[in-house]
Amino acid sequence: MSKQILITGASRGIGYETAKYLAEQGCKVIIAARSEEKLKELADQYPNLITAISMDITDEENHQELVDYLHQTERKLDGIIHNAGLLINKPFKELTKNDWQQQLDVNVTAPSLLTKNLLPYLNNKSHVLNIGSMGGFQGSAKFPGLTGYSVAKGGLSILTECLGTELADEQISCNCLCLGAVQTEMLENAFPGMEAPVDPESMGKYVGDFVLTGHQFYNGKVLPVSLMDPS
Ligand SMILES: NC(=O)c1ccc[n+]([C@@H]2O[C@H](COP(=O)([O-])OP(=O)(O)OC[C@H]3O[C@@H](n4cnc5c(N)ncnc54)[C@H](OP(=O)(O)O)[C@@H]3O)[C@@H](O)[C@H]2O)c1
Repeated sequence: MSKQILITGASRGIGYETAKYLAEQGCKVIIAARSEEKLKELADQYPNLITAISMDITDEENHQELVDYLHQTERKLDGIIHNAGLLINKPFKELTKNDWQQQLDVNVTAPSLLTKNLLPYLNNKSHVLNIGSMGGFQGSAKFPGLTGYSVAKGGLSILTECLGTELADEQISCNCLCLGAVQTEMLENAFPGMEAPVDPESMGKYVGDFVLTGHQFYNGKVLPVSLMDPS
C-alpha cells in the first residue's frame, strides 16, 4: 500500500521538492502552506497523488480542516514532515516580542499542536519528522541575526527528544534533521549572496527517503545534516 505523508511548507524550497520526490515514489502526499496558488500548481502536476490544503499552520482552527479531510477520506498518515519554517534575520538588540513570537509559533508551537491534533490519524509505526537547523543543534557555530530562529529550532530539537519518549507507547517515532545550508529563499535571507553546497532537489530526496525509512533506525534523535559552515 502506498504511504500517506503530510508535509508542511511545501509551496517552495525544500518542502516543494520533498513533496515532488515522494509523489514520484508513489506516495500519497498532502501538502500544506499559505500560498494557495503555488500548492494548487504542484498538486495539478500529480492529480492522483498530491492533495493541497492551504493553511497557516500557526492558526489552530486551520488544523481542523486537515482533520476533517482525513476523517472524510478515511485516510491515516504514515508520516508528517514539519518542514514549514520562519527565519527573521535581525540583530538580537532589535528583535521585538512579535519577532520572537512569530518564530516560536511557526518553528515550535505549530508543529507541537499539529502533531497533537493529528495523533488519532497517525498509523502505527508512523514517523513524525521535524526539519530543524544546524543553528538549533547544540554546540554548532552560531551567527549574528539568527538568534531568534536558532532558539526556536533548538526548541524543535528538544521537542523531538521529548516526543521520541512520549509517543513511543503509541509506536510513533519522532526524529529531527538539522539541516545545513540549502539554496532556497530562506538561505538568501539568512546569508545573502551565499552559494550553498546543496540544492533543494537533492535535500528533498534525502528528506523524502528519511521520512519513509529513518524511523526503522532512529527514534528521538536530533541529527546534523550539514557539509559546511555556515551550518
Ligand atoms: N534553506 C536552508 O539553508 C535551511 C537550513 C536549515 C534549516 N532549514 C529549514 O528547512 C525548512 C524549509 O526551509 P526552506 O529553505 O525551504 O524555506 P523557504 O523557502 O523559506 O520555505 C518555507 C516554507 O514554509 C512555509 N511557511 C512559512 N510559514 C508558514 C505558516 N505560518 N503556515 C504554513 N506554512 C508556512 C512557506 O509557505 P507559505 O509562505 O506559502 O506559507 C514555505 O513553503 C525550514 O524549516 C527551515 O528552517 C533550511
